[in-house]
Amino acid sequence: MKFSTLLPSASAATLLTAVDVIPHEVQLANSLVNRAFPANAPHGYTPQTGNCPSNRPTVRAANGLSPQETAWLEVRRNATIQPMRDLLGRLNITGLDTTSYINNHQNNASALPNIGIAVSGGGYRAMLNGAGILEAFDNRTSNATSAGQLGGLLQSTTYLSGLSGGSWLVGSLYANNFSSIDSILAQDTSASGSGDLWQLGNDIFTGPATGGIQLLSSVGYYSALQSAVSDKQGAGFDISLTDYWGRALSYQLVNATDGGPAFTWSSIAEQDWFTSGSTPLPLIVADSRAPGEVLIPSNTTVFTFNPWEFGTFDPTVYGFIPMQYVGTNFSAGTTRSDQCVTGFDNVGFVMGTSATLFNEALTTINGTNSTGLFSSALQNGIEAVLAGFGSSDNDIADYPNPFYGYHNQTNPYAVSRQLTLVDGGEDLQNVPLHPLIQPVRHVDVIFAIDSSADTNASLPTNASATGWPDGASLIATYERSLNATMENGTAFPAIPDTNTFFNLGLNNRPTFFGCDPANQTGPSPIIIYMPNAPYVYNSNTSTFDLSYNDTERNAMVLNGYNGATQGNGTLDKQWGTCVGCAILSRSLHRTDTAVPDVCTQCFSRYCWDGTTNSTPPANYIPAMKLDAVSVTTSGAGKLSKSLSAALAGAIAAAATSLF
Ligand SMILES: *[C@@H]1O[C@H](CO)[C@@H](O)[C@H](O)[C@H]1NC(C)=O
Ligand SMILES: *[C@@H]1O[C@H](CO)[C@@H](O)[C@H](O)[C@H]1NC(C)=O
Ligand SMILES: *[C@@H]1O[C@H](CO)[C@@H](O)[C@H](O)[C@H]1NC(C)=O
Ligand SMILES: *[C@@H]1O[C@H](CO)[C@@H](O)[C@H](O)[C@H]1NC(C)=O
Ligand SMILES: *[C@@H]1O[C@H](CO)[C@@H](O)[C@H](O)[C@H]1NC(C)=O
Ligand SMILES: *[C@@H]1O[C@H](CO)[C@@H](O)[C@H](O)[C@H]1NC(C)=O
Ligand SMILES: *[C@@H]1O[C@H](CO)[C@@H](O)[C@H](O)[C@H]1NC(C)=O
Ligand SMILES: *[C@@H]1O[C@H](CO)[C@@H](O)[C@H](O)[C@H]1NC(C)=O
Ligand SMILES: *[C@@H]1O[C@H](CO)[C@@H](O)[C@H](O)[C@H]1NC(C)=O
Ligand SMILES: *[C@@H]1O[C@H](CO)[C@@H](O)[C@H](O)[C@H]1NC(C)=O
Ligand SMILES: *[C@@H]1O[C@H](CO)[C@@H](O)[C@H](O)[C@H]1NC(C)=O
Ligand SMILES: *[C@@H]1O[C@H](CO)[C@@H](O)[C@H](O)[C@H]1NC(C)=O
Repeated sequence: MKFSTLLPSASAATLLTAVDVIPHEVQLANSLVNRAFPANAPHGYTPQTGNCPSNRPTVRAANGLSPQETAWLEVRRNATIQPMRDLLGRLNITGLDTTSYINNHQNNASALPNIGIAVSGGGYRAMLNGAGILEAFDNRTSNATSAGQLGGLLQSTTYLSGLSGGSWLVGSLYANNFSSIDSILAQDTSASGSGDLWQLGNDIFTGPATGGIQLLSSVGYYSALQSAVSDKQGAGFDISLTDYWGRALSYQLVNATDGGPAFTWSSIAEQDWFTSGSTPLPLIVADSRAPGEVLIPSNTTVFTFNPWEFGTFDPTVYGFIPMQYVGTNFSAGTTRSDQCVTGFDNVGFVMGTSATLFNEALTTINGTNSTGLFSSALQNGIEAVLAGFGSSDNDIADYPNPFYGYHNQTNPYAVSRQLTLVDGGEDLQNVPLHPLIQPVRHVDVIFAIDSSADTNASLPTNASATGWPDGASLIATYERSLNATMENGTAFPAIPDTNTFFNLGLNNRPTFFGCDPANQTGPSPIIIYMPNAPYVYNSNTSTFDLSYNDTERNAMVLNGYNGATQGNGTLDKQWGTCVGCAILSRSLHRTDTAVPDVCTQCFSRYCWDGTTNSTPPANYIPAMKLDAVSVTTSGAGKLSKSLSAALAGAIAAAATSLF
């Protein structure tokens, strides 16, 4: 990891410490009697096979939302009304009485804005940048509910999707009772030298610090990883590197002993804070890889995990199964026997599935002299997995295929007993928009948080030039929406080429796409594109940097926070107003309400107006937008840093795309 020496800044430094646990957060945690959801206890990571319920699970055709989502939406949409009224009331939308507007429509929540947030992949960079933005959108964050601030946007949101590094953020929040970012960053690290969550200074090669809830020494950590995975294999399930990776990730992301090996994704649906509609619906995206395929084409089937279901709206497979029974053998849409599997849907395994690109990290263990570094049991286990796969198959997550013999005409996996899933960004749609643009969800506005590393070797000697997004992810989603075979009713705003992104600066500041509701190819949301850019920190860290000390971590989060708030309005006093206008835009159109002048001004400032400039751009070397925050790099973790560097090299050689 390369660090510029950054000048300290009073304002930024103040914000860095703004991680107080506020009373509401404490209440939320205490009020949960049964806060954990180790649904697979006491079996830990090992999936269980037992009798199916008398009403055997089946594949549901994707011709609508699940009954559970439909019912939950009624509760959630109602619960978003009050925070939306508070938020819009604070955003000074002159010329529109937003409170009356909401009040007039509150008996019909579907008239009101339906908001989605999508957090891209890009390793810890993406997780931390996304975290800073969610922090700014969260009404539990100190100062986020002052005039012009965006706190409460998260409470007003219906859907929150994540992919790869973004799935670590989304998964970690929901595995931990929707804890606020502030409360995660504010963990007391003084006693043990370590809090429990997001202690990214201890990377997956080192294992967790031994304080707090994590009780293991490194040696204990390695053998725990190995025994969890081999127990799953012993129970008759195929394993892949994703099992190791998902287990390792959980030690960072799940606030329970040993990273909560018994925590399942489907158990989120049982949580009272979820059923009461207090949080958005979490959606985690993974791509599929057809048998024999190595590169992932843009028309690959995109799968989503939500707490009730796993499957896809794509016309190829077009089906969903109950999340709880992922791991069960299905044939032609029903279970093959009366035996059902539960506990396969481990939260870490789901996050690992969305992020299989990082499986490559574990291949660096193969054949190294690990004496004194890893336990030989772990090394042997990983080498055995590697020996069992072709090297092109290291990056898969292995699932019993629930869509075997289903939708035979169009399903590329219909004849395969195995469903291989890969990193959700491998089809280049690195922002998880796919589940949010499904017409049945009627999303009006999507905050597209893009921490992709698209800019690369144009100036290899200038560390400021690499690792920034250039709009490629939006382009991939736009192009797919134009493909008659794959779009299946989805529509997406027009997106220009990457050269235009650079030439017009659309990659460096928030930009709205699809502002004119009358000029869309179908019902499509307005996209608020939020590209990663240097506000107070050079947040273009490598995707494969797997180690951040707490000051580096907090600087990344703070940079995201400043992007979301445009430096608390320093860069544009009207930014909050303009976000409010974008949130309201489709709703105003639907209710035939005049757009206030201040919104028209906002749209002329933030909407892409359809012009293009495709000439090759100058080198992109973004300047710091605000005063840089000061960061201490730690000398610790040298070993891990060198492994990370080796890893980055290994992956750069193999990677099919840049994240
Ligand atoms: C909150 O805002 C006040 C007033 O602007 C400022 O003095 C204080 O430092 C801020 N607190 C945090 C935690 O950012
Ligand atoms: C945040 O919003 C929720 C939902 O409206 C509300 O219940 C809660 O009191 C708010 N918290 C704060 C600190 O404003
Ligand atoms: C609200 O916006 C108007 C312009 O529409 C501006 O004149 C006024 O100063 C703003 N008020 C606040 C409190 O920012
Ligand atoms: C949502 O609000 C509407 C209007 O106030 C009400 O009729 C409906 O019962 C509410 N639905 C739920 C599930 O609370
Ligand atoms: C982690 O779990 C501990 C013990 O249950 C709890 O006290 C703490 O608040 C949790 N931390 C977060 C950030 O949720
Ligand atoms: C994707 O496109 C390729 C190339 O056109 C084609 O061979 C393949 O069958 C397509 N896959 C699906 C699932 O449509
Ligand atoms: C989506 O795909 C399914 C399955 O192929 C098909 O039945 C349905 O009509 C398609 N919907 C649209 C809107 O094209
Ligand atoms: C692992 O190491 C063995 C022997 O050192 C080698 O033959 C094999 O190709 C390696 N596998 C991978 C995936 O690197
Ligand atoms: C492996 O590394 C250890 C510790 O660095 C060293 O003592 C040993 O000689 C090495 N073994 C081989 C075969 O290189
Ligand atoms: C679909 O394919 C499966 C597996 O090849 C086969 O058993 C089944 O009969 C097929 N179903 C239909 C309706 O063709
Ligand atoms: C559209 O999708 C079809 C089938 O998946 C594929 O064969 C074709 O190449 C795609 N077309 C474009 C322009 O991507
Ligand atoms: C409608 O959108 C298309 C695609 O972006 C654009 O080329 C065209 O100029 C727009 N038309 C109007 C009237 O804005």
